[in-house]
Formats: sequence, structure tokens, C-alpha cells
Amino acid sequence: MDIEIKKILLDFKAYADKEVIVKGWVRNNRAQKEFGFIDLNDGTAFESVQVVYEDKELENFKDVAKYNSGSAVSVKGRVVLTPKMKQAFEIKADQVILEGSSLEDYAIQPKRHTREFLRENAHFRPRTNLFNAVFRVRSVISYAVHKFFQERNFIYLHSPIITASDAEGAGEMFQVTTLGQTKVEEGHKNDFFGKKSNLSVSGQLQAEAFALAFKNVYTFGPTFRAEKSNTPRHASEFWMIEPEIAFADLNDDMQLAEDMVKYIIKDLFEQCPSELAFFNKFVEKGLIDKLKNVLDSSFKRITHKEATDILLKNNDQFVIKAVEGEDLATEHEKFLTKHFNGPVFVTDWPKGIKAFYMRMNDDLETVAAMDLLVPGAGELIGGSQREERLDMLEKRMEEMHVDGEELWWYKELRKYGGNKHAGYGLGLDRMIMYVTGVDNIRDVIPFPRTPKNCEF
Ligand code: 4AD
Ligand code: MG
Repeated sequence: MDIEIKKILLDFKAYADKEVIVKGWVRNNRAQKEFGFIDLNDGTAFESVQVVYEDKELENFKDVAKYNSGSAVSVKGRVVLTPKMKQAFEIKADQVILEGSSLEDYAIQPKRHTREFLRENAHFRPRTNLFNAVFRVRSVISYAVHKFFQERNFIYLHSPIITASDAEGAGEMFQVTTLGQTKVEEGHKNDFFGKKSNLSVSGQLQAEAFALAFKNVYTFGPTFRAEKSNTPRHASEFWMIEPEIAFADLNDDMQLAEDMVKYIIKDLFEQCPSELAFFNKFVEKGLIDKLKNVLDSSFKRITHKEATDILLKNNDQFVIKAVEGEDLATEHEKFLTKHFNGPVFVTDWPKGIKAFYMRMNDDLETVAAMDLLVPGAGELIGGSQREERLDMLEKRMEEMHVDGEELWWYKELRKYGGNKHAGYGLGLDRMIMYVTGVDNIRDVIPFPRTPKNCEF
């Protein structure tokens, strides 16, 4: 039976002089006249192991010496401790069997490739160090998210992926239809669902319905936005985690968000030390200190007005000038996270630039909203206390041209036990950017979708 390389790495002394079979892919093969070295990676660990093979041991030495990068091989050999070397042990091969050959023109050669080149070879990029680390971190964080909420007795809700509601009221939806183009123009009576439907931009509205039964719930799934923004931080398909908590206000909401971000980072230090060390060395110098600093500090909280005042004082530094009562530009977000040297919550936003469901503050000008800004990834979280007062909600829907008929059920939640509640959405992909230092969202999504790009 073959063994996972991760198992050997975790307890290599116990395997000293033992025979093992390992199966994986050749990262690099350096052959000399009488012996050679294969860096073998089986994907179970970030690290590759070094396989040493010799002419006097192997019948097929001459063939093995020619196995290209990318070849799949099975190696039977002995674990030999190498305390004086860079790696703690190596495997001295008795047998190397080719399980799948790799042609000479394989795209991933043992050298540095640009991120752009690797994006065009997304089917191969998990075989590189960087992407091996990024996608393991993605998996580990996903599990940590579930652990965090399940430990706190939250119910996991599968909110629908196809829906008739525009949860953000921003009109940035991919339509779902089985009608041909001309028929779409005639209306949706004969369409599959008998009405207009689209891919969900957020599971929030359905999560609110569940929070008003289960108290604390969360969704975790893909969301789709037909935004034309071609930036390093926007994807057309991304994953969002949306907790919704009943009997809670904006402060409770921010506390939960802060606890969650810290929980994920702490878990990452435990589960992925090799990956973090790699990012720290090759992707973002100082990453580990940055993340440790997050664990040890409380996130800053400032109002949108306070944020704007800081920006106005420094307006000469910006291409897009800050204006009171207006949205923050990327450069403003960057400035604020630098100014506070870490994550910062911006609260109480002008009502005109936020969604219809956010709770109106007493000033009737701002809403109980919060964005969490972090260095590098920018807006990591967007959330709010929800408008639980039906009259206020209806007024906002009207002002913002949100179809109230379509959302009849959402309004009913306010009529029947609609108490105080709040929630937020954390973009998983941006969280991965933040903790890895990778600065383009296309490089933290396995097969990214962005405007004019739906390859693979
Ligand atoms: O701020 P957003 O639009 O908020 C909502 O969708 C609310 N329904 C959340 C809630 O209160 N339950 O999106 C939330 C987060 C953003 O802060 C960002 O991290 C991420 O989702 N996000 C995107 N990530 C990648 N690509 C995009 N196009 C994104 N749009 C939003
Ligand atoms: Mg937002």
C-alpha cells in the first residue's frame, strides 16, 4: 500500500529505514551518470520529498533518468534520515514505476512562471508551489468557517442559487432562462419558472427568513454578479459567507465579524505553517507579522463621516478626491487601512450609497451599515443591521426603486415577529487574498470567471 507523503513528513523519524511506497508527480528530475534526484510531490503536503535513485539499484535507470517534469510515478524505497541536509530525510528508491508519462513540452517547467502565464494554464497551476499553497489554504479556511459557526450553534442554510429576487437591488444579475433571445423580449410567462429569474447575488434575504426561526444562521456558497468591473478584486463568480443573527444590532454584528476573522487566522497558523512561511518569503514580506498583529489587536471602528474627514485632510494625495457623503474609492480604502495599520470598520454610511434593507439611523441620513476594510484586499466584509420596521422598509424600497411585489415574503417577515436582526457577508476569495498576500482575485479562485473570461 502506498502512503501519503504528509504522513511521513509529520513523523519521519518513525519511518527511518522503513520501506515505503509513495505515488505522486515529478516536480523536477536531475539525473547524473550513475544516480539522480526526483523532487516528488503527491499533493498531500506542500513539501516535496527527494527521491534518490541509482544505476546499481534500478534496472530501468536510463528510463527513469528521462522522466520529464509532470510525470506520475510510483516509488518503492527506504526512508533515510539526512540530518545534515536541507531536507530531514530522503527516499532511496528500489523501484520507480512510470504511472503516466509527461511530454517534453509540458507547460510547467521547474522555473519561475508569471502569474499571467499560469492563469492561461489554470488546469496545471495547482501543480506549482504557489497554487498548491493557495488552494490548500482555501480548503482549510472553508472548513474553519464551518467550525467557527457550528461551535457557536449556528444553522447552516443552503440558500437558493436560482432566485427571482435581486437581493442587493443593484441590478447586476445573470439571468436564468430557457427561452431563446427573441422570446425573452416577449416576457417570461412561458419561461421555465413562469417569471424572470437569475443567479443569486446574495443569500441574505433568505438567511433573514431563517434567522427569524433559528436565531443564528449562516450561508456559505457561490454568488454571481454581472458587474462589468474588471479589477483585481472583483470576480463574476465568488464565494460568500453570510451569517444572520436575530436579536442583534450592528455592534453585535461587528463583534461576530471580528471574532470570525481572528478565528480563521488562528486556525491557519495551526494548519498551514509551511504555506504561510512560503507566502511570507515569496509573496508578501511581513505577512506573518501582519497576521499576528491582527490576532493581538482590536479592529478600529470609525464612522463614514470620521473616515471622510481623515481623507479630506489628505485629499492632495488622491487621484479621486474624497467628497463628503460619497462612497470610498479603492485608494481611500488603502489610505485608511494604512493610516490605522490594520483592519478598520467603517460604520453609519450615507443612505444613498447603500442597499434598501439597511436600518435607518435616527438622523434619517445614514444607515446602520458597516464595511470591514483590510490592507491589500480592501473591502473584506459588508454588513448591516436590517430594517425591521415595515413602514421604513417600504419607504426605502420605493426610494430605491426596488420591486416590492417580488419581495412580498420579505416584507411579511416584518409583520410576523420581525425583531431586531443583523448580518454580514464576507467574501471568501478576498479573505484568501488577505491571508496569502496574493494581490489578484484571479489567483485565489481555481477557475476564475471575470468579464470576457470563462475558460476551463
Ligand atoms: O457588500 P456586499 O455586496 O454585501 C452583500 O452582498 C450583503 N448581502 C451581505 C450581507 O449583509 N449578508 O458583499 C459582501 C462581500 C464584500 O465585502 C466582498 O468581500 C465580497 O462580498 N464581494 C465580492 N468578492 C469578489 N468579487 C465581487 N464581485 C464581490 N462583490 C462582493
Ligand atoms: Mg459592499
